[in-house]
Amino acid sequence: MKETILVTGGTGFIGSHTTVELQNAGYEVVIVDNLSNSNENVLDGIEKITGVRPAFEKVDLRDFDATEAVFQKYPKIKGIIHFAASKAVGESVEKPLMYYRNNIISLVNLLELMPKYDVKGIIFSSSCTVYGQPTEENLPVTEEAPIQKALSPYGNTKQINEEIIYDYIHSGAPIKSIVLRYFNPIGAHPSALIGELPIGVPMNLIPFVTQTAIGVRKQLKIFGNDYNTPDGTCIRDYIYVVDLAKAHVAAMARVLNPEVESDAIEYFNIGTGHGVSTLEVVEGFEKATGVKVNWEYAPRREGDIEKVWGNVDKANKVLGWKADTPLEDVLASAWKWQCALRERGIM
Ligand code: UD1
Repeated sequence: MKETILVTGGTGFIGSHTTVELQNAGYEVVIVDNLSNSNENVLDGIEKITGVRPAFEKVDLRDFDATEAVFQKYPKIKGIIHFAASKAVGESVEKPLMYYRNNIISLVNLLELMPKYDVKGIIFSSSCTVYGQPTEENLPVTEEAPIQKALSPYGNTKQINEEIIYDYIHSGAPIKSIVLRYFNPIGAHPSALIGELPIGVPMNLIPFVTQTAIGVRKQLKIFGNDYNTPDGTCIRDYIYVVDLAKAHVAAMARVLNPEVESDAIEYFNIGTGHGVSTLEVVEGFEKATGVKVNWEYAPRREGDIEKVWGNVDKANKVLGWKADTPLEDVLASAWKWQCALRERGIM
């Protein structure tokens, strides 16, 4: 058995898939989640897939004492993967202080506790949102591209958290960190036992596509067809959540390996390296599943970036990791998950 890893937000979408891959790789996992946007029964799915039920503590990371109690209860924790955060861009504009409190205090509490409990490494969930709209010559965007002023409090919390980790390490804290900047995570575990479960009307493209395909939503709106892109719709780098989960396992192995000589804080783009348009996603979904999606063009969505996709050479070389699942398989996995939710009477 390898080290014990604390996965915050481990019952969420990316956290649950990462827990599966960590357990498959031999790590022991302790999940902490306040269940504000997820359900404890996700643990059943993880257990069915891996044969192991991860330890679970319902804790709010804003509560310093409750967080410290987790480290006291599990003294073998050596690494943290910090997913727990609020992530709805629109909501963050309406409730900025909630976002600053949730997303910043949690990280500060974890960092403060790491040296005391001999926790060596932390992987932080960041986002390509830190690059804003890169200039044409900066596409595909590398980790060296300039950070641009965030367009929302949510995006700002990602930038501030990156800076907090940097400043803490710079002060001489005895920890290492890897910041993973994700592009657009999509899809579900091939077993359809875990996946993405948005509460209410989904804001993200793929859940909206699958919910429209199954009839929960009447029609998908493609936001804008007059962008400066080949088909006029926005371009993103859609990364399969299982591939993304595996990137965390590679990053954790690196950050905890005392023989690796690396900077105490490193940044990696985690994407496929390919840009795909919204229209291509919808057409790809129809091709992969044979199911028609009712859609129409609608005006641009405020705050949307026109096009962004990642240069992922650094992650490929340094982490020895690559996203290799074809988009059609990824879209089919999202559909299989939606159908499983229907069978279980959830949606
Ligand atoms: C957004 C955030 C990102 C965050 C991610 C996950 C920004 C710029 N991006 O990504 O930081 O990590 O959500 O929560 O803040 N689309 C439609 N119709 C829909 C839904 C989406 O056409 O009903 C289009 C969007 O215009 C966009 C693409 O699909 O071009 C992807 O949208 P979405 O899934 O919401 O992700 P992002 O906006 O890229």
